[in-house]
Amino acid sequence: MIELIKVNKSYSGIVKAVDDLTLTIPEGQITGFLGPNGAGKTTTIKIIAGVLNADSGSITINGTDIRENPLEAKIQFGYVPDNPDMFLRLKGMEYLNFMADMYNVESSLRKDRIQELSESFEMEAALNDQIQSYSHGMRQKIVIMGVLIHDPSVWILDEPMTGLDPKSSYTLKEMMKGHAAAGKTVFFSTHVLEVAEKLCDKVAIINKGKLLFYGTMDEIREHFRSNGSLEKIFLELTENE
Ligand SMILES: Nc1ncnc2c1ncn2[C@@H]1O[C@H](COP(=O)(O)OP(=O)(O)O)[C@@H](O)[C@H]1O
Ligand SMILES: [Mg+2]
Repeated sequence: MIELIKVNKSYSGIVKAVDDLTLTIPEGQITGFLGPNGAGKTTTIKIIAGVLNADSGSITINGTDIRENPLEAKIQFGYVPDNPDMFLRLKGMEYLNFMADMYNVESSLRKDRIQELSESFEMEAALNDQIQSYSHGMRQKIVIMGVLIHDPSVWILDEPMTGLDPKSSYTLKEMMKGHAAAGKTVFFSTHVLEVAEKLCDKVAIINKGKLLFYGTMDEIREHFRSNGSLEKIFLELTENE
């Protein structure tokens, strides 16, 4: 579970990227975080992950405050950033081992996980190459694999499907479903509404840093008295703002 209470964040004191955001993301479900470009999704996610500090407000992950107990909080979650261009000089395998070291994944377990994950994402043949030689989609996959290697209970994914080929995208979505079904937390941002509509138990819609709606797909349809697609509701909602 992730809990945000009255979170605020401005850049350089001017652009209000997150505006009084209060949101509870429960376990056992997939929660989608939707909003147009510049809505504040990445900023919010970076604050949850402890990459950025909020100006005010509090965030707990499985009950642990990210600011007060950052290490204890960070062990709870895996975070896939929106940009997978990192550790480019490491080979895929070195990066996975580095991540496993960071999270104290014991060696026989790590071997099994690396094998499972590289099979699932068809990355076996690439693990001995440097990440800088990878395509965007492969970089995305290796980052996801590195995040999942310690089997975190809370998954926080910023636009995770971007750049993935259809098969890997399908694999990841199935993994997200499995993780939620196992009673864990999955929170991901997307601007692709079809993905959200099919995959999410709940959606949180933000624009200009403010939460506009939070609920299930049924609730969203009922609330807006619409039989239309999420796309239609979303466009109306974010245009009216
Ligand atoms: N490092 C930054 N410095 C200044 N403004 C930023 C920075 N990062 C994001 N912003 C601004 O904050 C707002 C929210 O951006 P972001 O969180 O990236 O939105 P999203 O991920 O929903 O596209 C936008 O207006 C964006 O231009
Ligand atoms: Mg973003």
